[in-house]
Amino acid sequence: MPQASPARGKAAIERVGCAACHQIPGIRWPQGGSGPSLAGFAEQGLIAGRLPNRPDMLAAFVRNAPGVLPGTTMPAMPLSEGEARDVAAYLYGTR
Ligand code: HEC
Repeated sequence: MPQASPARGKAAIERVGCAACHQIPGIRWPQGGSGPSLAGFAEQGLIAGRLPNRPDMLAAFVRNAPGVLPGTTMPAMPLSEGEARDVAAYLYGTR
């Protein structure tokens, strides 16, 4: 993804607390379990089992999941559009 920064994405993930609900490689704490593990996300075919796993779709999902996937239990998160692209870049870089 052009201009997206995995390092900024990691900082955003830590700031908004994605790990309260997800295990995310590189984020040591708190490793919550109410959402799925996000390890190796680049290898996954679908987002939340229903959306094509593409960078633009993932960025939209991490910022406003209910907006792109009505009925999902993943909440909207306080990220800017740029931060959402950074977060997607970080997730695609994990194993
Ligand atoms: C309050 C708990 C909670 C928080 C906070 C949360 N999520 Fe989620 N997330 C979920 C749940 C529950 C699902 C499963 C949604 C579904 O299947 O419809 C999910 C699904 C996802 C998925 C799709 C996973 C898959 O296997 O397809 C991604 C990616 C994701 N979240 C990323 C994030 C990111 C990045 C953040 C922080 C910006 C975040 N989540 C914050 C609960 C949370």
